[in-house]
Amino acid sequence: MSRRACWINCLALLVPALLVGVGCAPDALSFSYSDLPAGDVARGAALFDQPVNGAAACSACHAAGTERRAGPPLAGYGQSAGARVPDEDPAEYTFYSIIRPSRYVVRGYSNTMPSDYDKRLSQQQIADLIAYLLSL
Ligand code: HEC
Repeated sequence: MSRRACWINCLALLVPALLVGVGCAPDALSFSYSDLPAGDVARGAALFDQPVNGAAACSACHAAGTERRAGPPLAGYGQSAGARVPDEDPAEYTFYSIIRPSRYVVRGYSNTMPSDYDKRLSQQQIADLIAYLLSL
């Protein structure tokens, strides 16, 4: 094969691979905050302590009280959530914190929260967790 033909082959393989890569970018969300159903605090509380669909339990990294684990403690979260991102509704901030944790990284912590909860939790489960966290 000539060197030129080799380059053309390479490009023919690379371009579609890049396009597929862009299509799978982690920021592509298949639903938005406004699609969520109403959440239920009690169901959210139960879910917080359980691993779901292969995802680590929230409580593995977060205490509902004041203890520091790998993630920030969530005591008083209902008050603090509204102060994180200017002009962002606390529930919407929480939505993104669960499914796109890298969007806002809490000071003093690193971006180690799993980023695939949007695929592991149903929209109902995400809504239930938001309701629960805002009740803390
Ligand atoms: C492997 C550890 C880990 C797991 C599991 C985890 N988180 Fe986190 N979480 C973190 C870390 C670290 C941060 C702080 C960095 C950041 O803001 O992304 C964080 C941040 C957050 C915040 C923002 C807190 C604030 O004060 O603004 C919320 C809300 C949250 N997580 C909810 C959840 C929920 C709900 C689950 C379960 C579905 C969960 N997390 C599972 C590690 C984890």
